[in-house]
Amino acid sequence: MPDPTVLDTGAHIALTERYAAHNYHPLPVVLEHGEGAWVTDVEGRRYLDCLAGYSALNFGHGHPRLLARAHAQLDRLTLTSRAFLNDQLGPFAESLCRLTGKEMVLPMNTGAEAVETAIKVARKWGYRVKGVPEGEASIVVMEGNFHGRTTTIVSFSDDKVARDEYGPYTPGFRTVTYGDADALRRAVDDTTVAVLLEPVQGEGGVVIPPEGYLREVRAICDEAGALMVADEIQSGLARTGRTFACDHEDVVPDVYVLGKALGGGLYPVSAIAADQAVLGVISPGSHGSTFGGNPLAAAIGHEVVAMLEEGTFQADAARLGRVLEEGLRPLVGAGLDAIRVRGLWAGLDVSPGGPTGRELCERLLARGVLAKDTHGSTIRLAPPLVVTDDEVGRLVDAVAASIG
Ligand SMILES: Cc1ncc(COP(=O)(O)O)c(C=O)c1O
Repeated sequence: MPDPTVLDTGAHIALTERYAAHNYHPLPVVLEHGEGAWVTDVEGRRYLDCLAGYSALNFGHGHPRLLARAHAQLDRLTLTSRAFLNDQLGPFAESLCRLTGKEMVLPMNTGAEAVETAIKVARKWGYRVKGVPEGEASIVVMEGNFHGRTTTIVSFSDDKVARDEYGPYTPGFRTVTYGDADALRRAVDDTTVAVLLEPVQGEGGVVIPPEGYLREVRAICDEAGALMVADEIQSGLARTGRTFACDHEDVVPDVYVLGKALGGGLYPVSAIAADQAVLGVISPGSHGSTFGGNPLAAAIGHEVVAMLEEGTFQADAARLGRVLEEGLRPLVGAGLDAIRVRGLWAGLDVSPGGPTGRELCERLLARGVLAKDTHGSTIRLAPPLVVTDDEVGRLVDAVAASIG
């Protein structure tokens, strides 16, 4: 006899639709278990998770090392607030400084909060250090950006759905074409405190800027006396085959903005990292969060950093990314218009006349693969970095069979 208290897929969908606001349009699959690169739904079907929580699950579901560290910390101490110190934050902060090569970090929880933190720090730095008259700071951002969904962040988004009807908007942002160094050069002036960009635009569809662009951004920031702020929330922490996507051009930004995988897929952990000359402008009470830097977050973040310091995830992402690219390349012109691959991260543009991005994701779902569409005809693939070569092959086969 089936247990009537156990809900099936349809019942879960109905319950969620009825009681949770419709701010997402999920694929019709209800997951209840995850291990490594695989998840299981409430009907017992297994799926290869090729979204990986938008790269929050770079280490896969329930990585044993992260689980052990989290369990141990859960039994000791979980939350202190920053009114007191805890024995996890200092060691975590030190390790993240080592990983980023920066002198200080400021821990928060979600990605959007870390971006907000970077914006606030850049403005305060602009007034205190650069000498911009108060209230006049400008920050240059990129077309097609995605940095989160707070009121300030959607103020400089060009995604109508994310932005419309949430005004009045926060002023102080200028938008330029992503990848166009001349446009950026024209946009910066004496009021510019920062250039904020994703080194690869994730939500934009894994858009990789032209080779040399990040170096030009670095040079333009240096000439203008502005901070280069790299939002590596999705691109960072091994996804692209390097610790940071900026590493592909040997560029070191002034501020790293980190999140997602920093919490190991277990817990929201975000942070910005910068030198004392920048982060030193923050004084007690001028910024903070009840949960930011809590001992559970710090313990998990510390373990994430320790795993990244070994370098194997970066190497695996680079190697598996080549396997993925070799598999996908023959599909260009045979159902796909273009592919963009950096590390184990791919954006696929479906050819006109083929399925929409959403339809392709539904077909992949039916073949046991989870992926996510963006901008109509594009899908993103970002499997956990713990997948095997065979599993990457399976993903490629599923895409090939679904695009026709
Ligand atoms: C580059 C980038 N920045 C910021 C964010 C926002 O992070 P969160 O959803 O944790 O607020 C995201 C989320 O997808 C992102 O990809």
